[in-house]
This record gives sequence, structure tokens and C-alpha cells, in this order.
Amino acid sequence: MHIEVRGLNKQFGDFQAVRDVSFDIEKGRLIGLLGPSGGGKTSILRMLAGLEQPSSGDIVFHGKRVNDLPPQERGIGFVFQNYALFKHMTVYDNIAFGLKVKKQSKEAIRERVMTLVELTGLKGFEHRLPHQLSGGQRQRVAFARALAPEPQLLLLDEPFAAIDAKIRSELRTWLKEMIERVGITSIFVTHDQDEAIEVADEIMIINKGRLEQKGSPWDIYKSPQTQFVASFIGESTIVSQVERLKGFEEASAWPGTQALIRPEYIEIGKQSEFRIASATARGTVKHVHFRGSEWMIEVEVGDIKLITYRSLEKDVLKPGDEISVLIHRAYLFNDNDTWIMENKLKEDPMPIHI
Ligand SMILES: Nc1ncnc2c1ncn2[C@@H]1O[C@H](COP(=O)(O)OP(=O)(O)O)[C@@H](O)[C@H]1O
Ligand SMILES: [Mg+2]
Repeated sequence: MHIEVRGLNKQFGDFQAVRDVSFDIEKGRLIGLLGPSGGGKTSILRMLAGLEQPSSGDIVFHGKRVNDLPPQERGIGFVFQNYALFKHMTVYDNIAFGLKVKKQSKEAIRERVMTLVELTGLKGFEHRLPHQLSGGQRQRVAFARALAPEPQLLLLDEPFAAIDAKIRSELRTWLKEMIERVGITSIFVTHDQDEAIEVADEIMIINKGRLEQKGSPWDIYKSPQTQFVASFIGESTIVSQVERLKGFEEASAWPGTQALIRPEYIEIGKQSEFRIASATARGTVKHVHFRGSEWMIEVEVGDIKLITYRSLEKDVLKPGDEISVLIHRAYLFNDNDTWIMENKLKEDPMPIHI
């Protein structure tokens, strides 16, 4: 289902939870709604579902305005963290619930439920009660129950928040595969950036009721459009007076500008490791942390502290080592603007490598 949201606002008393949010979602896409807690994600989802009335703005499904349509007529399936299964009903009856409400025939219900049981890997568990299942299995039942009436849009509000880390990561992969197989347009809420990056085709970043940015995970990572997005996604160090860094002297034209520098924007090593030595600054290794697949290095350039990573394949650095530091680029921002500045002393900027 194609979804269009125009100028959506939600006021709770004198608190504005959602501010002028507009977006389009193409049919069949899996969208991650990502942002800090209290940002307005659930409110947006509830308005799409018809569980909450917008203060203003339009919600359009398939070219038709649905603001006044009750939830049960919107063709939506939910998987909410707290939208618990019916405790006294078996897996089978939980999945069948929406179909019974629709008064489908016993045979049609049986066929649909068994298809979903098969699809979600719950075969053999049909007669269990929810308390006889693991957390992950329960969320699979919730997913099957949501899909049973063949909704056009699936909404998932932090579906794995209550599940432990190991299983959560398995469920993410599982969910992405399921949604691809079913081909249903889906919106998935999370406050966990790794989860959004891993699962979603496209991410919408929500903060303080506003849609800060919408794009593919990679687009958002490499071209954040607001200061909030830049600091929320990925790891970074914030540096004031960026003009003190070699190659960024021109930033002095914008007093008060700050820079966000991601670990992968920085290369460190012995002077001989660099092709363009003139673009490097001198730095001192402060701390070295082993991170399993690489070293995380804290390095000081002047009195500016930076964080970067170094391959295990390279010479081991230790605290106190004097090294060269090449900062490829910095993400600059001030009150009015955000932009990327390349190191001006490099002849040919290298692509970002992660
Ligand atoms: N029914 C309500 N009445 C009053 N305030 C609400 C209500 N629902 C949500 N809010 C407030 O709106 C803000 C956004 O909430 P929510 O949409 O749940 O955010 P998120 O899902 O991103 O954590 C929060 O500050 C929350 O307290
Ligand atoms: Mg929420």
C-alpha cells in the first residue's frame, strides 16, 4: 500500500508530540522509524493505525484520505511490544482471532492459520498456550496474528524491545526475511540504530516530534542533514574550533562552527604510511582498546581528542607513540547550517571507507 502523510501534527493538551511530519512510503517498503524515546514515534504509528486522531494533517492510503476511517477498516496489522497475545488462547486461536472476527468459514480460517504457522516456523506449536512459548516464539505468533487478515500495512512498535540481545538479533534477520517474502509495506519502530540499519530499507529519524531525515541507512550515515542526525547515527567526536586542525583552516571563516568527526574519517600511523604527508598532523596515542576485530585508538592532536580505529593487521600502537594523523573530512555545523568539509591539503579526496 502506498502511504502519504501530509503536515501531521499531534497535540496532547499544550504539549506537541508530533510536529508537521510529512512523508511518502512506497508500496512494499520496510521503513524504520528511529529516534530517542519520547520523540513521537508511537504517536505517529497510532495515528496511522487510527488509534489516535491527528490534531491536523492528512493520512492518505492508496490515494484515499483515511483520517475518518476507523482502525478496523484501514487494513492494518500491528505487532506492538505491549500488544500481548491472548493468554488463555492457543497459538492457533490467537492467529485465527482476526479471521473469526471477520466471520470467515472454518475451512478458510484453518487454511490461513496453517499457512502462517508454516511460514513463521511454528508448526507443532499450534496447541500451546503463550506461557509455554519463548519470548521469540511469542513475537512470531504476534506477527502471524497480525498478518492473518491480510493487511496492506504492517506496523511494528519496538517488537523486540523486551527480548534478550542474542535472540533479538536473530529475530531481526527473521523479520526482514519474512517481510520480504510476504511483500507487505511495513513500518518498524525502534530506538536502536543498529536494529534500524540492519532491518530497514529506509530510515526515518524522528526527534522531538519532527522528521529530521528520511533516506537509506547508508545515505543517512554518509550525508546527515541535521546536527541531531549526525550525532545520533554512528560514532563521532565533536570538536570546537575545527580550524585548528590541519587541512581545515578555512573553517575560521565561520566562527562558532563545530565539527563532528567520525572514526572512519581519520587515518593514523607512522609518517611513512601516508601518501600525502603534508596533509597530516602530529598526534599522540593516548589509549588503545582491543575491540575484537580492530583496535580503537584515542589520539590527541594538540589538545583535541579524537577517536579512530586501526586494523589488527597493522603495527601495534601503544600509548605515548607519536604518530601522524590524517583527517579526511569533517562534518561541520552551526546554528544555521550543516555541511561536509574535505581536508583542503589533500590533492585527491579519497572515498569514505568503512
Ligand atoms: N496520550 C498521551 N497524553 C499525553 N502525552 C502523551 C500521550 N501519548 C504520548 N504522549 C507524549 O508525547 C511524547 C511522544 O510520545 P511517543 O509518541 O510515545 O514517543 P516515542 O514512541 O518516540 O517514545 C512523549 O513526551 C509522551 O509523553
Ligand atoms: Mg514508543
